[in-house]
Amino acid sequence: MDAFAYRERALYCEEVALADVAARAGTPCYVYSAGKVFENFRAYDQAFGDLPHTVCYSVKANGNLAVLKLLAEAGAGFDIVSGGELYRVRTAGGDPAKVVFSGVGKTAQEIDEALAAGIFVFNCESEPELALVDALAHRRGVKARVALRVNPDIDALTHAYISTGNLAHKFGVDIGEAEAVYERARSHENLLIEGVSCHIGSQLMDSQPVMAAVDRVLELIERLKSKGFEIRHADFGGGLGVAYKPAEVAPAIAMFITALKTRVEGRGLRVMIEPGRSIVAGAGVLLTRVLYRKKTGAKDFVVVDAAMNDLIRPALYGAYHEIVPVRQTDGGRVRVDVVGPVCETGDFLARDREMPDVLPGDTLAICAAGAYGFVQSSNYNSRPRAAEIMVEGGAWRVIRRRESYDDIVRGEL
Ligand code: LLP
Repeated sequence: MDAFAYRERALYCEEVALADVAARAGTPCYVYSAGKVFENFRAYDQAFGDLPHTVCYSVKANGNLAVLKLLAEAGAGFDIVSGGELYRVRTAGGDPAKVVFSGVGKTAQEIDEALAAGIFVFNCESEPELALVDALAHRRGVKARVALRVNPDIDALTHAYISTGNLAHKFGVDIGEAEAVYERARSHENLLIEGVSCHIGSQLMDSQPVMAAVDRVLELIERLKSKGFEIRHADFGGGLGVAYKPAEVAPAIAMFITALKTRVEGRGLRVMIEPGRSIVAGAGVLLTRVLYRKKTGAKDFVVVDAAMNDLIRPALYGAYHEIVPVRQTDGGRVRVDVVGPVCETGDFLARDREMPDVLPGDTLAICAAGAYGFVQSSNYNSRPRAAEIMVEGGAWRVIRRRESYDDIVRGEL
């Protein structure tokens, strides 16, 4: 489905006119298509067919309870990186038995909470972490299932900040040392050493590096099996990219999973994956209103009411997000910087962007903002965080209220 499309020059999300949402919910606000989130999840799930698998949606991409509930009801598992994310999953009705816990810095408290909840597996990233999980499992009188996250030393060909599978990065254990680590881990009596995990980066537009990582992990699994380890699952992380620019073409979910399946089939393994962005990015926009137009000597600016505190991706990664008017007009095109009210030159949503001429009062949609949008927002400049809206067919509802000034100071003494 096209989650966002023009009808008679008005932009719709499913059956809902976005101009109506902006008028009633105010701006800035995030709007998500429930249908699109569901469709993307199903594309993963169905492509696996009858190969044993769990699609663990990566909560960090968009952790709103309504999004998690929708996915939990569709049968998703979840990839978490903190106690807070576990709390969200449980609050939304997610099944802890389908949760994988990733991250280099799990605290004792977080590990203990995850043991109490009975999560599926800890993706451990170091030997001291294995030892801590073992000790805490012993204290609780339980066995903890673990996978070692290996670092395959592969260039993921993506932005440096979101590339994770190289030995210069903090993530995982060098795949070359993995067998020795597994051997030493045998001494931990409260661990069920049943998996191997790997995640090489995010926004991957080329699936080749992931497939290279998959091959290395599968070779490792065969070596571990020959040494008597009962490896039952392989987790290949997330990372599939999405098209942010009109000309870009992202790898299709079904084709990506089919390529993965071909490699894994027949090995008696359950496959886990942890997609985030590819499920929610294209399902969301950020609506913002034009406040002012202004020109300086060198530049033409569109000043809008959303800012870097609402969507930090352009400022942080130089990321491109397409920006389109909610109502199309016959005006010309202009080359502008789209900027927010925050007091930093880094506060831009687009730079030197050719786009339709817009006027104060017009509403714009910042596209593909469903992933790493709201979750990375802040109260910088004491700006209340935006509302979040879920559209389902012809209906829409607020799934997170816009923050008030009281919300901003809550907890301060
Ligand atoms: N699994 C692990 C272990 C991860 O570190 C990540 C993302 C994922 C799964 C999900 O990856 P995805 O399918 O969403 O690519 N804030 C950045 C992205 C950071 C990604 C961090 N890890 C951005 O806005 O581009």
